[in-house]
Amino acid sequence: MSTGYVQERNMTLVKVEKKETVALLTINRPEGLNALNTAVLKELSDALDTLAEDSDLRVLVVTGAGDRAFVAGADIGEMAKLTREEAASFARVGHDTMEKLSSFPVPTIAAVNGFALGGGFELALACDLIIASAKARFAFPETGLGITPGFGGTQRIARLAGPMVACDLIFTGRRLNAEQALALGIVAEITDVETLLDRAMEIANTIADKAPVAIRNAKRAIYEGLGGTLSDGLTLETKYFSQCFDTEDQKNAMHAFVNKEKAPPFEGR
Ligand code: COA
Repeated sequence: MSTGYVQERNMTLVKVEKKETVALLTINRPEGLNALNTAVLKELSDALDTLAEDSDLRVLVVTGAGDRAFVAGADIGEMAKLTREEAASFARVGHDTMEKLSSFPVPTIAAVNGFALGGGFELALACDLIIASAKARFAFPETGLGITPGFGGTQRIARLAGPMVACDLIFTGRRLNAEQALALGIVAEITDVETLLDRAMEIANTIADKAPVAIRNAKRAIYEGLGGTLSDGLTLETKYFSQCFDTEDQKNAMHAFVNKEKAPPFEGR
């Protein structure tokens, strides 16, 4: 990665680097197209636990090593041998890990190049935003392997893009290119392969420059409100909106606007 990044953690299968308030987490098993086996899931889960404790962190970017894949799925070699009970336990490990990502305290951005298949698509869907290179390919190949998606895919794609899109993609296993994923609202933006990480970092820095409490509260309001009625969601919104008025960041930013002054950088309090 470019100069300026501090390597925070170098486990075998997951790499974490940090530049100022943005962390870059790379699934690092390129020879197996970053497929998620138990060892990768464990390292990913541990890395997310550590990152969630980092009070300076404002955005997390997630990507895959190498130039061929974000993540080509859960590890088929490992799954091939599972009994029903072991499969349930494998799904729970996958769910716990994806849940750590989807409930991560600060915004998460998946930077997807190449294959995001099965568990890789599910990993990207557990992030708040997906930025794709022109070479990104998304699919749920599971039904062609005799299984359903098991790391949250049936639920997250249906919530994000609707049940008909979920049925189409999961029943057929067809691959979406980046443009098709953009048209379905699965991808926020498409970049060239060469500029993917720079653009993901640029978006991360834009978010990192906003008021941290406002960003965290907005994320909570969006996701916590999704499962309930509009009325319940508006109650949540009132709670998170009003909490922001207890912060110095809100007072400083609004005071500066009203007085036509430059606001100080946000402190997260
Ligand atoms: N699980 C385990 N290993 C995987 C994998 C997965 N999901 N995806 C790729 N790999 C491994 C391959 O076995 C191969 O390992 P090897 O070199 O030891 O044989 C290596 O990654 C490279 O993949 P390969 O298949 O040789 O590359 P390719 O260019 O011919 O095909 C894919 C790329 C992505 C089309 C193909 O690897 C594939 O279909 N992978 C499975 C995708 C899938 O079904 N994912 C959902 C699982 S539920």
